[in-house]
Amino acid sequence: MSAPRPVRIAPSILSADFARLGEQVLEAEAAGADYIHVDVMDGHFVPNLTIGPLVVQAIAPLTRLPIHVHLMVERPEAQIEAFAQAGASLITVHVETCPHLHRTLEQIRAAGALPSVTLNPATPLSMLDEVLDQVALVLIMTVDPGWGGQEMIPGALDKVRRLRETLDRRGLRDCLIEVDGGVNLGTLSQVLAAGADVLVMGSAIFASEWGVAGALERYRAAIENMKRPLS
Ligand code: DX5
Ligand code: ZN
Repeated sequence: MSAPRPVRIAPSILSADFARLGEQVLEAEAAGADYIHVDVMDGHFVPNLTIGPLVVQAIAPLTRLPIHVHLMVERPEAQIEAFAQAGASLITVHVETCPHLHRTLEQIRAAGALPSVTLNPATPLSMLDEVLDQVALVLIMTVDPGWGGQEMIPGALDKVRRLRETLDRRGLRDCLIEVDGGVNLGTLSQVLAAGADVLVMGSAIFASEWGVAGALERYRAAIENMKRPLS
């Protein structure tokens, strides 16, 4: 048996106070966040409209944390260079938006960012079979994308379990599994038991009654206290 995999936290700025965005990113970094998660929505692939490369460009010089950009947009290939140049370290595209997924993932790498892929809760995991060795991270959506603060879809974590088995079987131990949507104190133990490496948390951190630092401190402590299954 090998050592337990570390668990990392990626606060999603979707739930941040945009009037104080820089301060909130700095607060998350000082409180021990591992990444900054940026939810980009285009009003087409998902109904909501959010953040463009200018916002990434504004926060990138403020933080040493890697910035992960989650592209919930149609034709993501048209946006990749702009986000990479703005400072994205990793770019996640939805398999539903990429008819030429292999090419799009190569485009992300060529633009200087780490390639990553995700899929909606109703999309089968088998859609990723042919690209798993191309990506640094697979993001498993546990809500239908579009808004923060939704409840996790029951059963959505089963994909995390199956993906962990597949990655182990194929010897792809460096590929990280990230969970996005409805991660909070109520769902944390199930998320960890399923085998997630990275937890995206929007409302649980930026809309927390404990404040950003207080929430991160509590989640870190809760993660330490929960026994991780060895993989
Ligand atoms: C949903 C986004 C998520 C969202 C998570 O479409 O991809 O990153 O911000 O929000 P919470 O953590 O509040 O469920
Ligand atoms: Zn996201």
